[in-house]
Amino acid sequence: MSITSEQQDALIRQAQQARARAYAPYSGYAVGAAALAASGRIYPGANVENAAYPSGICAERAAVFNAIGAGERQIVAVAVATENGGTPCGSCRQVLSEFGPEADVIMVDAEGRIAAQMTVAELLPRAFGASHLPKKT
Ligand code: THU
Repeated sequence: MSITSEQQDALIRQAQQARARAYAPYSGYAVGAAALAASGRIYPGANVENAAYPSGICAERAAVFNAIGAGERQIVAVAVATENGGTPCGSCRQVLSEFGPEADVIMVDAEGRIAAQMTVAELLPRAFGASHLPKKT
């Protein structure tokens, strides 16, 4: 599903706003994300770090979990805002693949410039998914 330029602008703006709310005192790498769900609603997320490092969460997963917890089941597009246009990590790609394998991922830098844009399936080829699991009887 392709999105309108208005939706893309809103996604990028909300990802940048979410980035400003990141809690990243350990890495200093603030990340903001905004996920557009099938309902048309946009869900923000930021990375939230922790003194016990693995307990932190990435911005993309925070945004997707925010959407799914609100009752959404399909992600249509995601914007990710970082200092330098960084790409989603492997765990975030896997989570995005569960709810939006064809979703557009728009990576923007601190100025809001689009550094890269591709689908989740392009970011995670040959993804593991529900179809690989044995059928439940
Ligand atoms: N981070 C994200 O929020 N998203 C990614 O996809 C890459 C990494 C965060 C995790 C950690 O808080 C910081 O960036 C440095 O790895």
